[in-house]
Amino acid sequence: MGEILKNKHIILGITGSIAAYKAAYLIRALVKKGAEVQVVITPAGKEFITPLTLSTLSSHPVISEFFSNRDGTWNIHVDLGLWADAMLIAPATASTIGKMANGIADNMLITTYLSCKAPVFVAPAMDLDMFAHPSTQQNLDRLRSFGNHIIEPTSGELASHLVGKGRMEEPDQIVAVLETYFSTQSQLEKKKIVITAGPTYEKIDPVRFIGNYSSGKMGFALAETCAQQGDAQSNEADHNHHLTGIHAAVPLTGWRHPALHG
Ligand SMILES: Cc1cc2nc3c(=O)[nH]c(=O)nc-3n(C[C@H](O)[C@H](O)[C@H](O)COP(=O)(O)O)c2cc1C
Repeated sequence: MGEILKNKHIILGITGSIAAYKAAYLIRALVKKGAEVQVVITPAGKEFITPLTLSTLSSHPVISEFFSNRDGTWNIHVDLGLWADAMLIAPATASTIGKMANGIADNMLITTYLSCKAPVFVAPAMDLDMFAHPSTQQNLDRLRSFGNHIIEPTSGELASHLVGKGRMEEPDQIVAVLETYFSTQSQLEKKKIVITAGPTYEKIDPVRFIGNYSSGKMGFALAETCAQQGDAQSNEADHNHHLTGIHAAVPLTGWRHPALHG
């Protein structure tokens, strides 16, 4: 995994959680691996960790406001979204998770998230009851359904001294998640993979055959996973129907089987 994050552009979104101090360790670990880190912090986040610490560790000015000066210049979230190889939001508060799930773009972090074409990783951090609340869980499910990667919090003693699930995952583990993601992605990048799906029929004579009940779900699930880990280029699926079965030649795309996903 040594070089996998080298020269990767990572946007690190930091929000108003007591776990924001861990972002300093995260930046150090990412920079040590050769990644370039651009911090975007929410206004509440700045109450928990100073932009000076973050800009010093990342060697980049920290972005927080839409308008950095009173001279008409503004920060361009769209460019930032395109620059990134990955966006990581760590720690992610319940509030930010809710805004991401519902497109409430009232700060630089959320506008950057909405503009981001790169994979997004979210590391929640909050009290156990906030994390367990159906509203938080629904928002997380929503983010998953958008294709975001949720890095589950761990259980343990929380800042409130209560014990339960809600502690942000440790920085080294978060870096390991990114490394695993990029290593599997680079193995499949630009590869074209043919996956056969569905039943096969073996001809016995002109009117009879031996077949099976395969639904094809396994093949399409494999194709979807390959598509997620590859470099999605096209939205077409090429179905070739052969005498011996259905061969789905699926380019590495975000294509979804209509029968399975409506
Ligand atoms: C001391 C303190 C610690 C907090 N820690 C958390 C936290 O870990 N997780 C969380 O979801 N909210 C936490 N909050 C509440 C958030 O700071 C608050 O919801 C804020 O509006 C989040 O804004 P943001 O998501 O835009 O950064 C905390 C508040 C205080 C005062």
